[in-house]
Amino acid sequence: MDDLKAKYLGQIAEAADEATLEGIRVSAVGKKGEVALKMRELGKMTPEERQIAGPALNALKDEINSALVAKKAALADAALDERLRSEWLDVTLPTRPQRRTGTLHPIGQVQEEITAIFAELGFSVAEGPRIDTDWYNFDALNIPGHHPARAEMDTFYMHRAEGDDRPPHVLRTHTSPVQIRSMEKMGAPLRIICPGGVYRADYDQTHTPMFHQVEGLALDKDISMANLKWVLEEFVKAFFEVDDVELRFRASHFPFTEPSAEVDIRCSWEGGTLKVGEGDDWLEVLGSGMVHPKVIAAGGIDPEVYQGFAFGIGIDRLAMLKYGIPDLRAFFDSDLRWLRHYGFQCLDMPTLHGGLSR
Ligand code: DAH
Repeated sequence: MDDLKAKYLGQIAEAADEATLEGIRVSAVGKKGEVALKMRELGKMTPEERQIAGPALNALKDEINSALVAKKAALADAALDERLRSEWLDVTLPTRPQRRTGTLHPIGQVQEEITAIFAELGFSVAEGPRIDTDWYNFDALNIPGHHPARAEMDTFYMHRAEGDDRPPHVLRTHTSPVQIRSMEKMGAPLRIICPGGVYRADYDQTHTPMFHQVEGLALDKDISMANLKWVLEEFVKAFFEVDDVELRFRASHFPFTEPSAEVDIRCSWEGGTLKVGEGDDWLEVLGSGMVHPKVIAAGGIDPEVYQGFAFGIGIDRLAMLKYGIPDLRAFFDSDLRWLRHYGFQCLDMPTLHGGLSR
């Protein structure tokens, strides 16, 4: 019995994994194991011998079983320690920038920045279709069929089936038709911006056939040009992340606003880099004005009761200026090297409190 005990406790101590341990269990204390065989011999013994051998065999069996349980627990502990050691991970480390595979396109980034700024000013985001009727794109905006603005816009017209003489759909030439759709849908008072893609047949360093605008519209009973000026100043300061900025409102003409103004920002181009808020240059950034009564009426709202301002900003243009991107066409070339260089980390959502562009 002492030999059996020494043999099995020794084997258990040396077992390196659970499978070995199970093998030892079967051959020691299993149904046909060595201890069981010894127990069968009890029958052949005298009662006196049995009184000594029986409890001793039971004690041996218990001892081997406890050693097995203890070893099994020790093996499991060791395995867990090993896993904790090898799978250790410092979750406080920053992510590795070289691992990033995708980035936010500057247009998307700037669109998010613009949305964050206007959201703080109480504007919500509205959207409209990129393929629209010429009523929404032109007529409803006080641009009738003969108006020269139609020709100036280099409109892409959609094809109509032969014999169908309804006016063709157009690829919207600006985001202004979303003004009409939003008035129809939401009525007044109204405060919205509408960012999105627009199309014109034009192509050079500062023009691409598809580009982006953000439209703004605020309607209420007592909105004036002064409100427009304040909102635009707040916007430009927040967007270019400067404390002060000087805007110049130049009288202009748009069919959908009366009066109309184009807005320039004071800036300098010293050393080829743009500085906003100082210098002797002016940079045109947007068109704006008080919404024409005919446009308000086309949106189904009474222009005798409601009035307001509207503006249209070129998003791509703002992105070029803020991030020093010289050629508009590169925005849409899908060149990975360009995207990696000018792209933004996709988890850095712009907010006014956290910083727009960090
Ligand atoms: N829709 C004009 C364009 O694409 C921009 C514009 C000018 C929009 C004045 C406006 C506005 O809402 O009031 O050139």
